[in-house]
Amino acid sequence: MNTEKEIKRVTTKTLSLLKKNNIKITSLTAYDFITAKLLDEAGIDIILVGDSLGNVFQGNETTLPVTMDEMIYHTKAVSKGINRAMLIVDMPFMSYQLSVDEGFRNAGRIMKETPAGGVKLEGGKRVANTIRQITQAGIPVMGHIGLTPQSIYQFGSYRERGKNKQEADEILEDARIIEEAGAFGIVLEKIPSELAKKVTESVKIPTIGIGAGVHCDGQILVTPDMLGLNIDFHPRFVRHYSSLAEEILKAVLNYIEDVKQNNFPSKEESY
Ligand code: KIV
Repeated sequence: MNTEKEIKRVTTKTLSLLKKNNIKITSLTAYDFITAKLLDEAGIDIILVGDSLGNVFQGNETTLPVTMDEMIYHTKAVSKGINRAMLIVDMPFMSYQLSVDEGFRNAGRIMKETPAGGVKLEGGKRVANTIRQITQAGIPVMGHIGLTPQSIYQFGSYRERGKNKQEADEILEDARIIEEAGAFGIVLEKIPSELAKKVTESVKIPTIGIGAGVHCDGQILVTPDMLGLNIDFHPRFVRHYSSLAEEILKAVLNYIEDVKQNNFPSKEESY
């Protein structure tokens, strides 16, 4: 008899059911095996290998330098820690902007070379055909509108989007277009809470907010931000659930002190 409880993988169907039943969807990013394992054990619904790894893992100012090979490398590591969560992978800058075919090929590459459950790409109307082509091949796609960090040089800042009527209308229209193109969900980044509410009510697919208020169907944060590891970055939408930077600093200082004072290793820690 198999005594182990069977773990049910989160799928697009699960997420759709959660929205229908008004149960919030939880999501965090991961870039390595150990973090992914902890997030999965805690019961996170979606683990995103975000191209935010360009900032928080590689130390770049933007996400633009991240490559397909790097996304695939991190996804392979993250996937080994996951039993339950849905694993979504960001398509990096210039992996889908060149043409629909290029985006299609790269989405296929992610699905062939990793155990990802879907891909995420930024943009509304202008990427609709790419989303359509990828989803028609059976690959789940998550959209991402509002603040789209891959377009930082077009916008010139990381300011909130959708504050004026024109931008708000565009975001609403983009959400509908993405849904119609076949996406299973949409990330809404840094837009007013009331606009996120309107978007969430106007589409059947789940919305996952980051800096988009409480009315979204779910929330996502960048894990090193919410754990208090990325101390130089504190926009108001990030809540610190821990102060890991302080904890790590304290631990390393203690280690240095112990080594210098011949307090480590002890007899018990030696052979
Ligand atoms: O790259 C990323 O981590 C993301 C999330 C912030 C949604 O796109």
